[in-house]
Amino acid sequence: MKVSVIGTGYVGLTAACLADFGHNVVLIGRSKDKIDVINQGASPIYEPGLDEVLKRNISAGRLHATTDYKEIDDSDVVFICVGTPSNDDGSIDLSQVEECSIQIAERLKNSSKYKIIVVKSTVVPKTTKNFVIPVLEKHSGKKAGKDFGVGMNPEFLREGTGVYDFVNPDKIVIGGLDEKSTATLSTLYENFDKKFHRVTTDLTTAEMIKYAQNSALAARISFINEIANICEKYSVDVKEVAHAIGLDTRIGQRFLSAGIGFGGSCFPKDVNALISAAKAVGINPVFLQTIMEINERQPHRLVELAKEAAGDLHGKTIAVLGLAFKNDTDDMRESRATPIINSLLHAGANVRAHDPRAMENAKEIFGDKIEYCNSKEECVRGADLCMIVTEWDEFRNLDLNSVKCPVIDGRRVLDPEKAKSHGLIYKGIGYKGNFGV
Ligand code: UGA
Repeated sequence: MKVSVIGTGYVGLTAACLADFGHNVVLIGRSKDKIDVINQGASPIYEPGLDEVLKRNISAGRLHATTDYKEIDDSDVVFICVGTPSNDDGSIDLSQVEECSIQIAERLKNSSKYKIIVVKSTVVPKTTKNFVIPVLEKHSGKKAGKDFGVGMNPEFLREGTGVYDFVNPDKIVIGGLDEKSTATLSTLYENFDKKFHRVTTDLTTAEMIKYAQNSALAARISFINEIANICEKYSVDVKEVAHAIGLDTRIGQRFLSAGIGFGGSCFPKDVNALISAAKAVGINPVFLQTIMEINERQPHRLVELAKEAAGDLHGKTIAVLGLAFKNDTDDMRESRATPIINSLLHAGANVRAHDPRAMENAKEIFGDKIEYCNSKEECVRGADLCMIVTEWDEFRNLDLNSVKCPVIDGRRVLDPEKAKSHGLIYKGIGYKGNFGV
């Protein structure tokens, strides 16, 4: 099939994986610089495996990038994968969706080929029906369902494992305006090796599924973080508790890692957007609000632990290991490192940091307020305190002989017993030995 993907952010770039399944894909973006980089087979964002996918499919002639919307004329399916950031009040900003829908409509006006326009961007319930379709109809002079099809196909992949997740989905959710739209979209995912669940539904349900899923995952994280804080006070280790409750198949093991809260471009934005959408229809979303409240508090728990270990932080040199919002990404959006570092700076500490990938993005946030170290070893050398903020694998095997200060583990990546056997003071989120050391 011929597929256009509009948006060269995270979702758009991973949609390029469709080329691996034999589809002809054109990626459409606004930035000429980004487009040039992509056409050279390089990803403008750091995502393991994505460069290979781009290179492989560009050289096979199945994929190319452009700034020109006229390339959608020939497409069977057009994916809208542009960003849906938050407004100041937490509600969703649809300006990029609108701009892109207008551009698509301009092409629909004079194109005779029947196409399915598919929203992949995360949008609140009723957006496709009450916003995207009216914009498409108004600017094309054509009728949805008659002259073009419409779908809503949410994305469930995680940054850092996006390429793997694309190829190995648990499920594909396809919301369709009509049977033809649903059937065409279904065909697109036919060649996948992995058996997955196929959920076909209407447009608004597909939109709601995406928000409900991200809220459910965010809820698990806030839940286990609250349990972790209680565990600490009762000298119980949250890791043991999480493992044991996860053995119940009704609960499961995943997304129960206690830490400093969730960041990234999705969970905080999506839970807030759902809160706002709920209020708009007269629902008081207390549960969703609590998820966010716990998440706002959790980074400060790590700073409290730092104070418990080192006393007054004023003038202390603190090594922060990890800046990205999670491992295997250079993304700093809503990273919990930001409130933690701001709080350390506010307390008068000297902060130095190392992250395997996110240093350049961090410089845009912290400028020269912190020092940037080229390695974890350089970062911890001579520090008064070491704080682990991102769950990078390379921090799991930190050479404890090189550490001469207390370690505060925000992601529970170190073995506390091992740290203690090296004579270190160790404190971690949900660790049973936080007190009495
Ligand atoms: C999340 C979802 O997992 C994807 O399914 C979804 O497609 C994506 O949002 C999206 O809506 O686009 P992502 O934000 O990339 O993916 O990364 P996650 O692996 O979900 O991690 C999110 C945050 O939660 C990170 O800060 C991570 O450190 C934290 N986390 C995750 C925990 O604190 N504990 C856990 O057990 C798991």
